[in-house]
Amino acid sequence: MPDPMPTLTIAVLPGDGIGPEVIHQSLRVLDTVAKKFGHHFEYRFGQIGATAIRSTGSPFPSETLELCKTSDAILFGAVGDPSFDNDPSAKVRPEQGLLSMRKELGLFANIRPVQTYPALHHLSPLKSNRLKNTDLIIYRELTGGIYFGEKKSSADGQWALDTCTYSVDEINRIGRLAFSHALQRKKRLCLIDKANFLETSRLWRKTIAELSLEYPEVQTECMFVDNAAMQLILHPAQFDVILTENMFGDILSDEASVLAGSLGLLPSASIGTGPSLFEPIHGSYPQATGKDIANPIGSILSAAMLLESLGLMEEAQSIKEAVDWSIQNGFVTKDIDPVNFYFTSTIGELLCDYMTNRVDEAVHKANIQIRKSTII
Ligand code: IPM
Ligand code: MN
Repeated sequence: MPDPMPTLTIAVLPGDGIGPEVIHQSLRVLDTVAKKFGHHFEYRFGQIGATAIRSTGSPFPSETLELCKTSDAILFGAVGDPSFDNDPSAKVRPEQGLLSMRKELGLFANIRPVQTYPALHHLSPLKSNRLKNTDLIIYRELTGGIYFGEKKSSADGQWALDTCTYSVDEINRIGRLAFSHALQRKKRLCLIDKANFLETSRLWRKTIAELSLEYPEVQTECMFVDNAAMQLILHPAQFDVILTENMFGDILSDEASVLAGSLGLLPSASIGTGPSLFEPIHGSYPQATGKDIANPIGSILSAAMLLESLGLMEEAQSIKEAVDWSIQNGFVTKDIDPVNFYFTSTIGELLCDYMTNRVDEAVHKANIQIRKSTII
C-alpha cells in the first residue's frame, strides 16, 4: 500500500462580490480532484475585504494573516464593494486588505498567464489572425512601486502625491523568476517600462540588463509601456514572458485579458517567501453578485495553478483539460456568450462531471440549459 497522501491545508478567502460564488465552484472542482486522485484538502476559511471590515473593522484581520501563514497555499476570490467606492470619507477600504495581504505575506511576484482559445477567437474584438499563436505570461512586480510608495494629500485638498520607488533587490528577485520561467518556455523576455522618462524604469533596465548576462540563452528586449499597450493588440504573439513593475503590470494584464476572450478566464499566482496565493485577475464585479452569472474559470484555473505549485501536475492537468473541453463545446458564461450562456454553478457542475467521466459525448445541452443534472 502506498503511503496515504498528507493533508494539504488551503486557506480560502472568498472576499466580496462574486468572490464567494467563484470560490464555491473552485472548491467543488478541488473536491473532485481530491476524490479522483485520493488526496485530502483541508479548507480553512478566512475573511478579507468589505466582509471583513463589517465584522472586524479591518480589511485584513490578523486572524486571516495567521491562517494564511500557516497554510500550504491560499485561494482567494476578490475584494471590493461599491458602498466604499462611493464614499470618499471611508477610512478603510476593502482593497487595502488585498494590498496588506500582498505586503505582509511578501508576495512580490504576480504571474498572469494569457492563453487564447481558438474556440473563442470569433468572440474577441480582435481579428482571429492576430490572436493566432498567442501564449504569453506576465510577471508583474506586486509589493513595490507606486502602490506602496509614500502617499499624501494637502489639508486644503488642492494637491496629492504618490511616489514610486524600486530597489535593485526588488527588481532582481522577480527578474530571476521571470528569466527562469523564460528558459522553460520560448526563451524570450520583454521588460516593459518607461525608461525614456522615469528614473525607476532606468533602474529596471540597468538591473535587468546585468541580470540577463546570467541567462545568455534568453533573448531579452525592452519596450516602452505605451508602445507595449499597442503591440499587445497589434501583434500579441510576439510576446513570451513579459516582465514589468506593479502598475504597468496591473494595466497591461487587464488589456491582455481581452486576447483570451474575457477577463473572467484569467487566473494568477502570487509568489514570495511563504505560501503562495492564487486568485482570478478579475475583481468583485458587484453588478453580478448573487446572480449565478460570473465566470468561475479564472478562479478554477487559479486552483489548478495552486495544485501545480504543490507539485500536483496531473491533478492540475485534469482541471485544465476539463476547462478546455467546456470552452470548446460552448459551455461558457454570459461574459463570453451573452445569448447562449450557462450559469456559474452549471459550469462548475459540468467540469466536475467531465473530470469524473460522467459526461457523455453527446451531452444534452438542453438539460444543462434548464439547470437539470448534467448526468445524461
Ligand atoms: C488586481 C486589482 C488590484 C490591483 C486592485 C483591486 C487594488 O486590480 O489585482 O489587479 O490593482 O492590484
Ligand atoms: Mn487589476
